[in-house]
Amino acid sequence: MHDHQRSSADEEHRIVKKNAVLKHLTGLQGIAADTIIEILDRAAFHKHLFINQEDAIRQSLKGKRIALAFFENSTRTRFSFEIAARNLGASTLNFTASSSSLSKGESLIDTIRNLEAMRVDAFIIRHPSSGSADMISRITDKHVINAGDGSREHPTQALLDIFTLRDYFGSLEGIKVMILGDILHSRVARSNIFGLTALGAEVAVCGPATLLPVDAETLGITMFSHLEEALGWADAAIVLRLQLERATGGYLPSLQDYSFSFGLTDKRLEKIKKTLPVLHPGPINREIEISGNVADRIQPPGFSKSMLLEQVTNGVAVRTAVLELLISLQPDT
Ligand code: CP
Repeated sequence: MHDHQRSSADEEHRIVKKNAVLKHLTGLQGIAADTIIEILDRAAFHKHLFINQEDAIRQSLKGKRIALAFFENSTRTRFSFEIAARNLGASTLNFTASSSSLSKGESLIDTIRNLEAMRVDAFIIRHPSSGSADMISRITDKHVINAGDGSREHPTQALLDIFTLRDYFGSLEGIKVMILGDILHSRVARSNIFGLTALGAEVAVCGPATLLPVDAETLGITMFSHLEEALGWADAAIVLRLQLERATGGYLPSLQDYSFSFGLTDKRLEKIKKTLPVLHPGPINREIEISGNVADRIQPPGFSKSMLLEQVTNGVAVRTAVLELLISLQPDT
């Protein structure tokens, strides 16, 4: 064993205080803060391996088969899960709805049953219907990870956002995070609200009244209808994509009107006189919800620091941690 491998193994031993019992990850609603922290700590370890290209030494999922069942398009989530699975020694099966027998009328349940018969150990599911990942977790004894289901949850996206913010601030306790945009249709916003509040952050949302949630009080969040006011309050901003494919258009007079009132631009940020880390789950609509220079600026000068590509790198680390925790570190394995 090389010295760098030994130190990585020692570090892993140090961070593994206990393994949370987690068969599936379909959402962050109700998840224990300790479980989130364990995932973040493991992700920090995997990020170190990943950016130092030490990933090839990890074989904890050797012999496992992971189905990437994406019934909706994806770039970041799909590729980062694939890299994570391979880094842990697993093999991956790729599945897209348009090239599968779903297009011949096969049901989702029959599709899952057939993949199970091929001895798949875990399903990573992206699906346009809210609740689909939970439904699949009830019909299979394999692991299920929600990679985004309709407007409900996208837990690994929120975990990577939370990881990025924890890296930036050191702790989430008392940090004010403002989520901007189409909150109503956003699975990313919902998962972030659950995860961030579990770790002691304060969360606010900002957007046009038609795109704000109706259950803000139950969610324990603040609402802003003016972006300048929300920016003055916030320590960090998560900008959401306008989901044009989910009929957002019907909720807005026009994209230009949205940009005029809620687009995150230098002009708006200059007024706040503080450096604000800016996150966005991607893909971005440049010059609609975020200006190009805000999205691209990773160094001052300026009143914002773009975390967008850092988030993508962190996504590999977080998804590696989730796969390892669910599949290889459970008490019965
Ligand atoms: N943020 C996110 O889920 O991106 P993809 O749709 O590219 O996976």
